[in-house]
Amino acid sequence: MRRKLVVANRKMNGSIPENKVFLKELIAGTEDFSNADFVVCFPHPYLGQAQDILTGTPIAWGGQNMSRYDHGPYTGSVSAKMLVEFGCQYVIIGHSERRGRGHDSDSSVGERFQVAVKAGLKPIFCMGETLEEFEQGLTDLVTIRQLNSLIQQVGIKSLTQGILAYEPVWAIGTGKAASPEHAQSILHFLRGYLILKDPEVGKHISILYGGSLNRGNAVDILSMPDIDGGLVGTASLNTEEFIEICQAANAFMVCDV
Ligand code: 13P
Repeated sequence: MRRKLVVANRKMNGSIPENKVFLKELIAGTEDFSNADFVVCFPHPYLGQAQDILTGTPIAWGGQNMSRYDHGPYTGSVSAKMLVEFGCQYVIIGHSERRGRGHDSDSSVGERFQVAVKAGLKPIFCMGETLEEFEQGLTDLVTIRQLNSLIQQVGIKSLTQGILAYEPVWAIGTGKAASPEHAQSILHFLRGYLILKDPEVGKHISILYGGSLNRGNAVDILSMPDIDGGLVGTASLNTEEFIEICQAANAFMVCDV
């Protein structure tokens, strides 16, 4: 059974007072939305605050990145075990804002996936093409390359221990979301590819869409059959708008496979 999932990626935003207001309003605003699941991914310094406020609520929280190493001389890095200590259930890995800056390669993202799963976290594995690749019609090729690299490292069966997210780079933070039809066609293609490799994995894996998801397009995008939810950046900074996106996700029936 696949339930809709909405993940806020707050990126490098927020402050202790702002987060407090956001979380209190989010808890109250989503209390009747029991058909979908909600997660907030915070900058690492705020994970203790998330733990204090969200413990005992249905809202989960997570980190936005983690090291592939357990411990050691990696200045500025955070391990999977540390995220777990702060109650995280999720961690975003391979976001294009990290891949693009050279921090994360296909292979290091695969390593992170494995380490996260081993620590008991659900990794949210991001993939997506740049504008140039999109214009050259390379979307399928790029996403499959990223997905195959993950499969080669972790094995097809492990995929369902995480979540996949298709985030076209050209849609991130630009206000130009993929059309619902485009997003659906890519997710359908990715799911079909996985079904060919392993029908159970393909049918059960959750695949999210991310990139300028907002209150105006959430219903159309989240109603698509292969889109299991959204990864929301900018619109998660506006609490009212984020709650509307959560409401849109809650409105759709779970996909019973
Ligand atoms: P925007 O919603 O700001 O486009 O960001 C999407 C994103 O990067 C989520 O991970």
